[in-house]
Amino acid sequence: MALPLHGDCEYGWRRCKCLIPASKVEQFNCRSSYDDCKKAADWLLYRTKQRPKVAIICGSGLGGLAELIDDKTIFPYEDIPGFPTSTVAGHAGQLVFGTLQGQECVCMQGRFHFYEGYSMETVTFPVRVFSLLGVETLIVTNAAGGLNASYRVGDIMVIKDHINLPGFSGQSPLVGHNDDRFGVRFPCMSDAYDRNLRALAIEAAHEQKCGSFLQEGVYCMVAGPTYETIAESNLLKKLGADAVGMSTVPEVVVARHCGLRVLGLSLITNKVVTDYDSNEKANHEEVLATTSLRAQDLQRLVRHLITKI
Ligand code: HPA
Repeated sequence: MALPLHGDCEYGWRRCKCLIPASKVEQFNCRSSYDDCKKAADWLLYRTKQRPKVAIICGSGLGGLAELIDDKTIFPYEDIPGFPTSTVAGHAGQLVFGTLQGQECVCMQGRFHFYEGYSMETVTFPVRVFSLLGVETLIVTNAAGGLNASYRVGDIMVIKDHINLPGFSGQSPLVGHNDDRFGVRFPCMSDAYDRNLRALAIEAAHEQKCGSFLQEGVYCMVAGPTYETIAESNLLKKLGADAVGMSTVPEVVVARHCGLRVLGLSLITNKVVTDYDSNEKANHEEVLATTSLRAQDLQRLVRHLITKI
């Protein structure tokens, strides 16, 4: 299949930063100007009475949290104007509005990953919509590989900070024109993960008997979809990363740009291989297996935490 170069898509080269079939441009690269985000937000506000202050992005295999929501109003992504649609089999691909422990929230069941071919703008479109819905706090969960030697498979890591590796090479969702209605040109990231929310999460984890497998550390995003080589893993460790994954950072960058408070939680699904004599191999099956073992604990933690926000 012939791949179009930038410019073949109707949004022009600045918007379409990845090479994808022209027929899929609409699906992969929704327009994410202020007006497009506003259109999606207004469409949602018209169809639900819920006015959530908290949004939750569920990582792969962690969408079960949305099942715990009461008084649900569900919007499949394909129904929401301008919203991208999910490509990964088994991902629900819907926004779930409702209440969790009495607190109004909106939950993204199925997220968009850069490695799927979505542009950074598309990956982060939902976060901008959340901000226009009036959301003030974003909770993000993900699966990650453990780099820190003291971490064990099944640990939950409260994200203290991140390393935006794709951002180092120009793949930041904020590259390009800055719309001041969202935020400033040069946003601060030294306070990306809210200190008070982190303290609340740690408190909630202890109250929910998750203290014995709780960590706090630095998450590094890689673009994926390959898992890391041994040399790359050792490099990430030297850079100060405790865990590595293929998501979260673009959403957090955009959330901070538009003034949301952020809490990030990583489930350590596998130990990253850092030793040439090891026979271990990172694989998606192990990631999914660990996720399903710990999903309930993570859900319990978030459900309890939300009562404290
Ligand atoms: N590396 C990158 N991403 C991941 C990993 C990993 O080891 N585990 C889960 N997501």
